[in-house]
Amino acid sequence: MTAELNGNKMDARPNFDKEFSFAKRTTCLRINLDTILSNIGILKAQCSNHTDVIAVIKANAYGHGSVEVARYLSRHGIHHFAVAAPSEGKVLRQAGVTDFIQVFGNANEVEIPDLLENKLVPTVATIEFLQLWAEKLRLNKENNGLISNDGSNVHTHVGSVVIKVDSGMSRNGCQPEDLVSLIKFCLGNGVHVHSIMTHFSQAWDDPDFTKIQLETFLKAASPYRKHGIKLHTANSAGIIQGFGVDLDFIRPGIAIYGQPLDNMPSTIAQYEELGLRPAMAWLARPTLIKTVGPGQVVGYDQTYKCKEEEIVATFPVGYADGYNRLLSGKGLITTIYGTPCPVIGRVSMDAITVKLHKDTACQDYYILQDDFTSANSTTQMANELKTITYEVCTSLSQRLPRLYIGDGKLYTERTNSL
Ligand SMILES: Cc1ncc(COP(=O)(O)O)c(C=O)c1O
Repeated sequence: MTAELNGNKMDARPNFDKEFSFAKRTTCLRINLDTILSNIGILKAQCSNHTDVIAVIKANAYGHGSVEVARYLSRHGIHHFAVAAPSEGKVLRQAGVTDFIQVFGNANEVEIPDLLENKLVPTVATIEFLQLWAEKLRLNKENNGLISNDGSNVHTHVGSVVIKVDSGMSRNGCQPEDLVSLIKFCLGNGVHVHSIMTHFSQAWDDPDFTKIQLETFLKAASPYRKHGIKLHTANSAGIIQGFGVDLDFIRPGIAIYGQPLDNMPSTIAQYEELGLRPAMAWLARPTLIKTVGPGQVVGYDQTYKCKEEEIVATFPVGYADGYNRLLSGKGLITTIYGTPCPVIGRVSMDAITVKLHKDTACQDYYILQDDFTSANSTTQMANELKTITYEVCTSLSQRLPRLYIGDGKLYTERTNSL
């Protein structure tokens, strides 16, 4: 089948008709939740049988949509999640997620009302916070019995804390020698310690330093395992490189989304060998296609001048959606068949302009491909922007509609009620 687009014969099949009619826009992220689950399975297979997963879904699940990711994973047996701010946990609670939700970072007094109200588990580094927390728990218990262990997932962890030890990153967590007083305070004041954790700073490519971090942590924290307190250390890099994979939990983030930790070919090769795959693609269809004559300019600031008659397509995607303005005149998107098409002129807030070729132009395009090597994979885009896939993914804005493939079905955030 062909479509007449501005006088050019364009192949219109295959296309993203179904996706765009679901999304009610001609751009959307398509997120494969089954791939996320498969990636988690691959990571778990690197660990001891008893090791459980805390799925890191902060920053809107690295751009993938924390509510749908959590709902789906919870349905598939993942019952521990981590976010970076109480507000992120609140969104999940309001969406009906009842599982354990840890809030990373050094917990602060001002966060206590939101943490308690939403039954979130803080990550604690100071005795001062613990004193305030214990006092609030006591008052709550006296006043309205909010803090109770009724056996359901949420309530089991109300009032619990995770204590974080700084094993060498010098960012979050208490000093190893302070752990003893924090734990003593908790044991003596009825504060349940769910677990003790640390975080690796360079598990991917500095095994010597990571080993020192792990040893420092274990020396400080291991004695408390006999109290039933669990231990965890490993982020994605730690898991893949085998650090802390025999402890009680792992805390993978970027790798569950199938995004490489860095842009090195060797990292991609390792992901491919393990079977990890990106879970997200960004789809779009031009809102307008026009033929522009030689000498005519395109976009803000006239940075692109047509040399000949050119086909210019406008897509409803801009820097406010997470398509970085530094990709002006540099970005590449691909046709649905994989042919690269250059972004010409400035990236605007809500639009990009792309040069199409009449022989390869089609109806629908990938802004981001769900592979590792296309010119518009997140890895290649991160390379172009001199950043990492983490930033490319977490920059994808809330206003982009997200569609989900879960258990083989395609659905939107709106239609997937619990
Ligand atoms: C404490 C902690 N654990 C785990 C993670 C997950 O890290 P990654 O996305 O590299 O797997 C993060 C992310 O920054 C983190 O801050």
